[in-house]
Amino acid sequence: MKRERWTSRTIFLFAAIGSAVGLGNIWRFPYLAYEYGGGAFLIPYLLALFIIGIPLMILEFAIGQKLQRGAVDAFKTINHRLSGIGVGAILAGFIVVIYYAAVIAWSLLFFVNSFNSPLPWIEDAKGYFFNNVLGISESVNVIGGVSLPLLFALLAVWIMIYLSVRKGVKSVGKVVLVTMPLPIILLAILFIRGITLPGALEGIVYYLKPDFSALFDTEIWLAAISQIFFTLSLGFGIMIAYASFNKETQDVSGDAYITSITNSLISLFAGFVVFSVIGYMATVNSLGIEEVATSGPGLAFVVFPQALALMPLSWFFAILFFLMLFTLGIDSAFSLIEAVNTAIKDRYPKVSKNKIAIAVCAVSFILGVIFVTGAGLYFLDIVDHFVTNYTLVAIGIFECLAIGWIYGAGKLRSYVNKVSRFKVGSWWDVSIKYIIPIALLVLLVSQLITDIQTPYGGYPSWALAIGWAAVIIPLLIVFGIAVRKGE
Ligand code: PHE
Repeated sequence: MKRERWTSRTIFLFAAIGSAVGLGNIWRFPYLAYEYGGGAFLIPYLLALFIIGIPLMILEFAIGQKLQRGAVDAFKTINHRLSGIGVGAILAGFIVVIYYAAVIAWSLLFFVNSFNSPLPWIEDAKGYFFNNVLGISESVNVIGGVSLPLLFALLAVWIMIYLSVRKGVKSVGKVVLVTMPLPIILLAILFIRGITLPGALEGIVYYLKPDFSALFDTEIWLAAISQIFFTLSLGFGIMIAYASFNKETQDVSGDAYITSITNSLISLFAGFVVFSVIGYMATVNSLGIEEVATSGPGLAFVVFPQALALMPLSWFFAILFFLMLFTLGIDSAFSLIEAVNTAIKDRYPKVSKNKIAIAVCAVSFILGVIFVTGAGLYFLDIVDHFVTNYTLVAIGIFECLAIGWIYGAGKLRSYVNKVSRFKVGSWWDVSIKYIIPIALLVLLVSQLITDIQTPYGGYPSWALAIGWAAVIIPLLIVFGIAVRKGE
C-alpha cells in the first residue's frame, strides 16, 4: 500500500510548526525569560536551541522521512530491540494529550463566555477560574464532582481533534492551514493592543533587561534545555510521524531549521504581548511587576482575563485571546494523536485511519474525565511535571543513543546531506553521541535530586505515585521490549 503524502512541503511545515507552537510559547517562555535573567536568558536558550533542539529535530525528521514509518516501526526497523523507544515516546505523548485537551477545553469555555458583556469574570477573575470554571476541590485528596460545562467542552475538543485527524494527513493538512497561521495573526493584533497600553514599556523592560549574573546559576541552563525540548514537541514521536509522510528526497535540515527557528521567534514575540499586558496590570493596580508576573494556567486564565476585563472593548479582545489559545493548542493536540494513530496504522495497515481515530479519541476522552473533576488541576500539574521532566527527557536520551551508537550518526547524517541543501557538519555526530545525552542526563539527575529532596508541589505521596507511574511505565516498556526481543 502506498504511504499517505502531504500535499506539499509547505503543508508539512505548517503542520510541524503548528505542533511546536503551542501553549508553551505563551505561558512558559516569556516567564522563563523574565525569571532567569531577562535578555541574558537568550544566551542559554539559543545555545540549547542550536546544540540540542535543532540537532534532535534533524534526527526526528531524518528517521521518519528516511524509514517512512512512525516512531514505533522506525525504531523497529533499526533494530527489533529498539522499538520500545517508539512505544515509550507514543505513550508519553498519549498521556500528555489527555491533559492538554483539558486545557484546550478551559480555553473553549472562556472563549464562549467572552461573548458576554460585561465579561463574567470582571469582579473576580481568580475566583471565576478556580471556582466557576474548574470547581476546584480543596486538595488532591478530594476528587470532587465532574464539572459538566467542562465535560461538554472536553467532548467538543475531542470531536474537533477527531475531525482533524480522521483522514490522517489529508485532513490534518487542511486544518493546519487555519490553525497554524490564525493564532499568529491574533497574536500580532494583541501585540498592537498590548504595546499601546499604559505601563506596557515597563513590563517589556522587565522581560528583557539582561542580568548576566544569572548565567552562573546552573538552574537557568537546565530551564533552557527543558524548555527547548518541550517547545519543539520532541520526544513524542510526533516529528517522526509527520516526516514519515514526506517524500524521501525532501530537504531535512532546511525543514528542521525553518520549524525550530520560527517556533522560537514566535516565543520571543509572545513575550512582548505577555509582558506588555503584565506591565499594564501592574500599573493599573499600582502593583510591582513581580506581583503580577506568573506562568502557566495562572497567566492565561487569571492574569490575562483580569487584564482583558479592564480594557476598552474587553469582550472583543477576550474573544481574540481565547480563540488564540484554542487554535494554538488544538494543532499541538492533534499532532500527538496523529503520532499515535500513525504508529497503530503502521502496525495494522488494513484498519482504516478513521476507525483508529475514533477509537483513540474516544479512549482519550474517557481517560480525560479525571482532569475535569474538582481535583483535575492537581492531577494535571502532577502528571505534567513528571512526564515533561523525566519521560520525555529519557526518551530523548534513548533516541540519541540508538541513532548515535547503534544506527550510526554518520550514516543518518550522510542521508540528511544527500537530500538537504544546507549541509550538516560532523559537529552533529558529536552532539548526538555525546553532548545531548550528557546534557539531558544532567537535567534528569538534577531534577531527580530536587524531587527526592522536596516532594513536588507538596502533594501527598499517593498522588505523586501517579506521576512516577507516568515515568516508570513507559520506561519499563522501553527496557522490557529491549530485553524480550533480545532473547
Ligand atoms: N510544543 C508545544 C508547546 O510549546 C507543546 C507540545 C508538547 C505539543 C507536546 C505537542 C506535544 O506548547
